[in-house]
Amino acid sequence: MQTRVRVASLASLVAAAALGAVACGGGVNTNGAATPTPSGTFTPTPTPTGTNTNPTPTPTPTASGTPSDCISGNDWVLGDFGSDWMHPGTDCPTCHATNNGPAFWVAGTVYGADGQIDDCGGVSGVEIDVKDATGTVYPLQSNLWGNFYLKQTDAPGFQTPYTVSLSYNGQTRSMTSSQSTQGCNSCHTVTGANAAPGRILEPGI
Ligand code: HEC
Ligand code: HEC
Repeated sequence: MQTRVRVASLASLVAAAALGAVACGGGVNTNGAATPTPSGTFTPTPTPTGTNTNPTPTPTPTASGTPSDCISGNDWVLGDFGSDWMHPGTDCPTCHATNNGPAFWVAGTVYGADGQIDDCGGVSGVEIDVKDATGTVYPLQSNLWGNFYLKQTDAPGFQTPYTVSLSYNGQTRSMTSSQSTQGCNSCHTVTGANAAPGRILEPGI
């Protein structure tokens, strides 16, 4: 109740002030027909000047809470929302096996630099030729977030172990060893696991 009264009196004060301003504008009006002369000065809003001394953007925080050095600028923040672009850099098949994701023979992410953290998007348009134990080559392409995968339903005859060759802009990069683990990123982690050199890198860098 008290608040409402205060608001009401504030409103009338504002109204009174506004009326006062109009009256002041013309001074004391001795002639009913005279047009009041506007008074006061007009102060324009100042335009910002000078240069930005801090042009470096603040790094985007990631799920782990560390600043991201993700060079693609694509940070996956949608969690387990099912998508071709989801969780770049992670071990896709292992999570899918115990959750509701599609079954992959192989899946991974291609990056444009080493050390790129999980959930950071990679490089698109890289061809990944996966040759299975029968000698059949499955040509895959990294998508806009660097991810690639071979669905089990799309390759019913796939046999492990497999070898891999990447090509991009006329350059190639191959894995000389044969592997049987489905998640490329389980070995090609930020620092590299199981003797892998780190991230799967685009050929030519
Ligand atoms: C931590 C768990 C997890 C990880 C890691 C993960 N996914 Fe998924 N993914 C899921 C789940 C759960 C679904 C099903 C979601 C749904 O049905 O909405 C899914 C669904 C998908 C789908 C199907 C989308 C659709 O339209 O139906 C694709 C494609 C996919 N994931 C690709 C990948 C790729 C590629 C990776 C690795 C780079 C990956 N996922 C990593 C949990 C994961
Ligand atoms: C079980 C661990 C493991 C898995 C799974 C794995 N790799 Fe590898 N990868 C390695 C190791 C170890 C090397 C280094 C020796 C070699 O070239 O064979 C390597 C090397 C590579 C290289 C060459 C690296 C370079 O810069 O010369 C590429 C490219 C590659 N892997 C891509 C892939 C792809 C694509 C997949 C999935 C389809 C995959 N790897 C799955 C362990 C693995």
